[in-house]
Amino acid sequence: MRASITAVGHYIPEKILTNKDLERIVDTSDEWIRTRTGIRERRILDADKGTSYMAVAAAKMVLRQKNISAAEIDLIIVATTTPDMTVPPTAAFVQKELKAVNCWGFDLNGACSGFLFALATGAQFIESGRHRKVLVIGADKMSAIVDYQDRNTCILFGDAAGAVLLEPARNEDLGIRDYILHLDGSGSEYLRIAAGGSLLPTTLETVANKMHYLYQDGKTVFKFAVNGMTEVVAEILENNGLKGGDIKLFIPHQANFRIIDAVAKKVGLRPDQVMLNIEKYGNTTAATIPLAMSEAYQQRLMHTNDWIVMAAFGAGFTWGSLLLRWEMD
Ligand code: COA
Repeated sequence: MRASITAVGHYIPEKILTNKDLERIVDTSDEWIRTRTGIRERRILDADKGTSYMAVAAAKMVLRQKNISAAEIDLIIVATTTPDMTVPPTAAFVQKELKAVNCWGFDLNGACSGFLFALATGAQFIESGRHRKVLVIGADKMSAIVDYQDRNTCILFGDAAGAVLLEPARNEDLGIRDYILHLDGSGSEYLRIAAGGSLLPTTLETVANKMHYLYQDGKTVFKFAVNGMTEVVAEILENNGLKGGDIKLFIPHQANFRIIDAVAKKVGLRPDQVMLNIEKYGNTTAATIPLAMSEAYQQRLMHTNDWIVMAAFGAGFTWGSLLLRWEMD
């Protein structure tokens, strides 16, 4: 039995932070940000709300689309780097708010690859026959961990959530067909939040040194992201006897337009095969892929039997690709 995506939804906060707004906060320019990253604006969640607020809204869109009640959900997986709290898991807040009274669930931290890792994990429970309805959510409130005095990072990130429902596929051709996932901890020094974990708990000193904010060596991450994503997309196509031309839509993690463009060119994809929305939202970490998928579905860019490839790269390093045949009309 294969696992298939049978509903997809998303949530974006109303507040918009434009490049012009950032020009007033740090030494940067709209032109620099657009040409180096492809980003024009990003969404920012209210300070008094947590990641679960967005996760719940995205999940509700999925339930409405499928016309099912939350009580039918067997399992909730929330991929996030920015949980509401360290304990309990954000999945618990989502369960409570949705009133999903017959499920279990957990958080999964795969950084920017979190949604792909969660999708592959959720699929196991469908494929084994153990569960019939698994909610997989990617949600991040990056504004909570970004230093708005650091121009290297604050221009890149935004807040959002996306969610999908996994169910048994209608037939053996449809649904998740393959995935290739990787983890290489030698990349851990290039993208991290050093303090606030068990290794270096928060102290006045760690806060004064801004160690509770996201640090990134952008140049190094960029190179690894292009190479890693190119390799896994080329590999998954080859393993499944597919060529670039067979793919209806490539839905990549949206971290930098130049990364996506380089990967697409290297694996032989035309611009019209690539889903892009980084311009509007920036990098929303675990939310980029389900958010892009939800918008692609709304724009009717995918139809039953279409081959869809996703790919992501993130802190860890984590990276991977996932191939599926789209089930919905
Ligand atoms: N505005 C203006 N100038 C900036 C700037 C900003 N927001 N941020 C950095 N700069 C400056 C740098 O200080 C540097 O100046 P210098 O040459 O005088 O030292 C110059 O611009 C070039 O910086 P550099 O870091 O080499 O730019 P880049 O072309 O590598 O672009 C990133 C920076 C962050 C956009 C790019 O490296 C990137 O996208 N990396 C990967 C990000 C990513 O994918 N992260 C998440 C993975 S999930």
